[in-house]
Amino acid sequence: MTLSPPSIVLVGLMGTGKSTVARLLAEHRGVELLDTDKMIESRYGKSVRDIFSESGEDTFRGYETEVLSDCVKRPGSPVIAAAGGVVVRDENRQLLNNARDIHTAVVVWLHARPDVLAERTTKGVHRPLLDEDRAGTLIRMDEERGPLYASVADIVIDVSERSVESVVELLIEALQEQEEYVGNDNV
Ligand code: S3P
Repeated sequence: MTLSPPSIVLVGLMGTGKSTVARLLAEHRGVELLDTDKMIESRYGKSVRDIFSESGEDTFRGYETEVLSDCVKRPGSPVIAAAGGVVVRDENRQLLNNARDIHTAVVVWLHARPDVLAERTTKGVHRPLLDEDRAGTLIRMDEERGPLYASVADIVIDVSERSVESVVELLIEALQEQEEYVGNDNV
């Protein structure tokens, strides 16, 4: 049986490089690139920051679930840069785990030490949650969300000491192994 390749979903905390890695990987695979924050901004006509300040985080999380659900159903095996908070809602983790179960998605967790992320997130205009005590917030998020990312991840890459290029190389190798394994599982 020939399967279409899976979508690749990148998850991880703010500043781990999901958007850049996703763009390079989408180019490499010759597929569409999707970014949940950008999709929310274009669908609802407002910036992430304005949604947070005008309607609150819960409303943003609702938009995020709608967009993620569309992303995992999208044909054409896209690469999806999922925003850092997608794992917070149980229903989002279920969406990801269902897609993994039927081999339509592979989920990749980009992990980095919170101190590295604090350095990398200084300019995040779409990151209102980091407005105050950025370093402390990232340490707390790493603790709280680490198990949640782990619960949806097929592949984990520690990006703390790696360039974007080497992350992409590692990821391409890991995906090849993963796809061979899934292919064998289904013949
Ligand atoms: C968030 C991550 C951000 C953005 C929003 C909330 C989070 O996206 O969706 O500020 O809760 O981790 P990136 O992970 O793309 O920075």
